[in-house]
Amino acid sequence: MSTASGTPALPGQEEEFGVYVHWPFCLSKCPYCDFNSHVRHAGIDEARYLRAFTQEIATTAERIGARTVATIFLGGGTPSLMQPATVGAILDAIGKHWSVARDVEVTLEANPTSVEATRFRGYRAAGVNRVSLGVQALDDASLKELGRLHSVEEALAAVAIARENFARTSFDLIYARPGQTVASWRAELTRAIGEAAEHLSLYQLTIEQDTPFAALHAAGKLITPDEATARALYDVTQEVCAAHGLAAYEISNHARAGAACRHNLVYWRYHEYAGIGPGAHGRLIVDGARHATATERRPESWLMRVEAQGHGRVSDEVLTRTEQADEFLLMGLRLAEGINPQRYAALAGHPLDAARIAALRAEGFVEEASDGRLRVTPAGFPILDAVVADLAA
Ligand SMILES: C[S@@+](CC[C@H](N)C(=O)[O-])C[C@H]1O[C@@H](n2cnc3c(N)ncnc32)[C@H](O)[C@@H]1O
Ligand code: SF4
Repeated sequence: MSTASGTPALPGQEEEFGVYVHWPFCLSKCPYCDFNSHVRHAGIDEARYLRAFTQEIATTAERIGARTVATIFLGGGTPSLMQPATVGAILDAIGKHWSVARDVEVTLEANPTSVEATRFRGYRAAGVNRVSLGVQALDDASLKELGRLHSVEEALAAVAIARENFARTSFDLIYARPGQTVASWRAELTRAIGEAAEHLSLYQLTIEQDTPFAALHAAGKLITPDEATARALYDVTQEVCAAHGLAAYEISNHARAGAACRHNLVYWRYHEYAGIGPGAHGRLIVDGARHATATERRPESWLMRVEAQGHGRVSDEVLTRTEQADEFLLMGLRLAEGINPQRYAALAGHPLDAARIAALRAEGFVEEASDGRLRVTPAGFPILDAVVADLAA
């Protein structure tokens, strides 16, 4: 089997092609969030956006040619604000322009309010087969502080409806929240695992620039756990999840064996994906070269661009060998399975620096698996950025 770039695939590295579709609207903006999400009180012309999504899918397919779609991810924003018929039409457009694998994974990100949960059956009928819910906390005071529109009770009801409708579900929690202790997080996480099916995404709260949380934090009005507590919260996350059969397969993602999100693996294994919709990124192989693409972020401007020129692409860069090798390293070392050093060498044109690997190994931050893969150890994960920087430099 060969990759889309025409080079032979290394064992275990057969490429999967994914399609990401970004729905950029939310009912309200959460104060910690810097995703490309927008509130439009005047309403949204969903049919017009659907036409633009369909057009951008067609233009992208024309550009890259035939592919077999292994994964589709409808992310946001809040894609569960879309009508099921819109989701169905987007999936139809993907199926019209590319072939779709029999076992395609189709994930939809949903907010866990009761209104959105009523659409789950419709999404299933439209072809969605996996749902990822933004639960964020199992504590009402925290949900309020995070600016969420749902309660714990409502979130758990949505999780239950999701599990009735989909064989595969996941939910997100944010930890290292203001005032959180190791004991309270341990109890909350244990309860969450009791509600979870096969997959959990557990993100440490990040204070993103230019968000209301950043202003509160700078003013001393939002106090997040100190570094030692954050580390202890991370450690207890690993311990509790592993004890319940949900070991981390990526730094923030936990799953039962075989239940990892295949779409996210496309990113982390540095395979090929198309980004459709406002502010979506792609890594496309065009005429054997890997391109980094990005579309216009502002929904209305993206819409006008697509209507005028067939796509909303505003950036399209051919990646050099070094850039590709660095991206491969950055993404792949997030995974518990690590990377295949031969693929690094094939991308970079030279192998990884053996002396640097030896130094990191001596410190216990990386290890070589029996199959030759290089991976970060549990001791290395908390300082992952430094490990990657050391190897990439
Ligand atoms: C695209 S967002 C959200 C999906 C959906 N709109 C929702 O909020 O439920 C994906 C996830 O990123 C996480 N996230 C967003 N901003 C974050 C931040 N500042 N720190 C940590 N996690 C964050 C949240 O857990 C969220 O569910
Ligand atoms: S966290 Fe989710 S619901 Fe909140 S603003 Fe961001 S994308 Fe929208």
